[in-house]
Formats: sequence, structure tokens, C-alpha cells
Amino acid sequence: MPNCIYLDNNATTQPDPEVVTALLPYLTDFYGNPSSMHTFGGQVGKAIQEARESVAALLGAEATEIIFTSCGTESNNTAIRAALAAQPSRNQIITTQVEHPCVLNVCKQLERQGYGVTYLSVNRQGQLDLMELEAALTGDTALVTTMYANNETGTIFPIEQIGELAKSYGAAFHVDAVQAVGKVPLNLKNSSIDLLTLSGHKLHAPKGVGALFVRKGFRFRPFLLGGHQERGRRAGTENVAGIVGLGKAAELELREMPQAIKREAQLRNRLEDVILATIPDCEVNGDATSRLPNTTNIGFKYIEGEAILLSLDKFGICASSGSACTSGSLEPSHVLKAMGLPYTILHGSIRFSLSRYTTDWEINRALEVLPGIVQRLRDLSPFTSDDVAWLQSRQEDILINR
Ligand SMILES: Cc1ncc(COP(=O)(O)O)c(C=O)c1O
Repeated sequence: MPNCIYLDNNATTQPDPEVVTALLPYLTDFYGNPSSMHTFGGQVGKAIQEARESVAALLGAEATEIIFTSCGTESNNTAIRAALAAQPSRNQIITTQVEHPCVLNVCKQLERQGYGVTYLSVNRQGQLDLMELEAALTGDTALVTTMYANNETGTIFPIEQIGELAKSYGAAFHVDAVQAVGKVPLNLKNSSIDLLTLSGHKLHAPKGVGALFVRKGFRFRPFLLGGHQERGRRAGTENVAGIVGLGKAAELELREMPQAIKREAQLRNRLEDVILATIPDCEVNGDATSRLPNTTNIGFKYIEGEAILLSLDKFGICASSGSACTSGSLEPSHVLKAMGLPYTILHGSIRFSLSRYTTDWEINRALEVLPGIVQRLRDLSPFTSDDVAWLQSRQEDILINR
């Protein structure tokens, strides 16, 4: 086992040992091509079918509604383009400002190709406004695409209400549930969701495998063209070991989720409560009433998130900052920016994300070292809160004048 305290499970998760055991034979003995006519290939095809049934069971879907892909990114790209192809006479897409880049960047490209895209805003808790959605919907809306739960804050959107509004305008509804599958129970049977994305490596399966739920009867146009794999809906020889691993992971989630949700929420709440009680000038970013049980995003005022991360890393603690450090310039997270967080919190926010492997000891250790790290960084910080307020107003001027 690597010697680290892993509190970055929204980035990726540890493959479950049972998953690894289940998939290994498909890298060694059972290497046949599932499309082959012979029995050897047929055995592999059967394993794929069993995995499909497990994934469908986790989602409350039918096996025929599951298409295996290479990742969440591919599923999202496929879903968006398929939904637009299903209603070619419609020209508008509605999404939110806080989506993952693999949705936002597709939407930006579609905008350049002539589609109208509405990016719904979110409030300070990262929650969207259903009235804003309703006002944006028209008879020209081809697709509403939103995430189920935000990867940075864990905020959960009111999915069924969004779906009902989308349906009332005849729009397709796609949900990026990469952060939700395995963390909250889902039942797609009577849901308004047409298309739903999931990713293996977020639920203790390996990287390089994902799935797309496509509701029976939805007019689906494939993204990858070629052979007849996935019943002609996703060409390319299957990542058999990955798919078998995803099937096993789905089976385990179904079994473990009820206890895992309770345990992770308890650990997360304790982490959060003790941080808020022992470290001054910090606050939780996200919607406390509608949030993933494993995620907390905490803003530590007056210091840089990256500095906290590097200090945590020295203690072997893995977490994540809301900001992506791009080419030397510290660019704050688009999610926290869309939430309208003040400058002081925007740059000092850290996400801790737990899994069923997170232990009491790991949480205790994080709580032991964090106050000292924050204090030391604040002592080193040249800024007072007045300086920060001034910097914030300067930043706003610069942004306005740019
Ligand atoms: C909300 C969300 N959507 C999509 C993705 C992309 O998934 P993948 O890494 O499988 O491409 C991620 C990954 O972090 C995510 O958090």
C-alpha cells in the first residue's frame, strides 16, 4: 500500500481488490476478442454482458440501456452530440457554469459552430435556480445537460425537477453523474433522465472505462463509428478487463453503498466540524442541505490553497485545491468563481473527498496537522485582511477593464 492519506477520492479512487481479482483473468487467460465467433471469444462476450447487467442494476436501468465507453469524458461528449443529432431542427443547449470542462469545452465548440448555449448561474452555495432554467427553456432547446453533483463542492442539483422542466419543452436531458454514481442511490426506471454518464475510476474500478446510459427508445446516434460493438452504438474493441472491473465495482457499490454513505458522512462531518471549530477564518463552500456525503470544500481565508496542499503533501496527505494552476498563473476555480466567492476564499479553498477506505485515523491525522499548517502560512502571509479587500477590488477593476 502506498504510504499516504488519500483524501482526494473525487479525483480518482483506489481500485477495490475484489475488482482487481475479477479483472485480472481478462488480461491473462481470457484474452479472446468478444466479437469472435469461437467459444473462447464468446466467454469474454459473456463477461461483458454480466458487467452490463451489474452496471444496469446499480442504476435501476435495463442492461440494453448501458453502453460501455472509455471514460466519463467520452460519455459526456457522446451524449451531448447524440442529443443534438436527435433533434436537428433545434439549436439551443442549456447547461450550467459549473460543469466539468469535458462538458463546458464541448459546449464552447458547439457555440462556435452556431449553437446557442445558455450557461445557468449558481448561487453562493453552488445551487442553480429552477426559475432561471425555466426562463431559458424554449421550443428551440434541444438539450439540457447538467451534472448530478459537483466534483469540487459536492453540491447536488435538483435533478428530477430539472428533468421535468426539460421534458415540458421537449428537450433531451443528459446528466453527468460521474461524481454521483456509487455515492448516492440512483433509480433511472421512472426518471426524466434520457442520458447519464458515469466513470469507472471514480467508483473503485480502473481508469479507462466508463458507461453511458441511453434510455430505451431514445434516438441515439453513435459518436465513434466502426465495427458493431455495443450493438453498433460505440465502435472499437472493448476494454474487456476495464469493463469486467466496472461490473464488479458496480456490484460492490450496490452492496456497500448504504453503510458507506453513513460512514463517509460521519467522517466528513467530523473533519468539517473540527476544522471550523479549531481554525479561525474558514468556511464551507457548497450546499450543506444537498451535498455528496463524501465531499467537503473549505475556504481558508488569506492564504493560497496551493500552499496548503503542498504543506499537506509533506505530511503525506493528498487533497485537492479548487484552483488549477495553469502556466504559472494562479487561475481560481471556475466553480468557486461562479459561486461568487470573495477573493479571500476563492484562492484558499481545499477539497477533501473521502471513500469507503478512509479511516478514523486518517481523519484524525489530517485534523492534527492542518491547524499548524494554516497558522504557519498565515504568519508568513504578507497580507492583512485590509490588503486582501483592496486586492479584490483591484482584481475586479482589472477584469472589468480588460
Ligand atoms: C463531474 C465530472 N465529469 C466528468 C469527469 C471526467 O471523467 P473521466 O476522468 O472519466 O474522463 C470528471 C472527472 O473528474 C468529473 O468530475
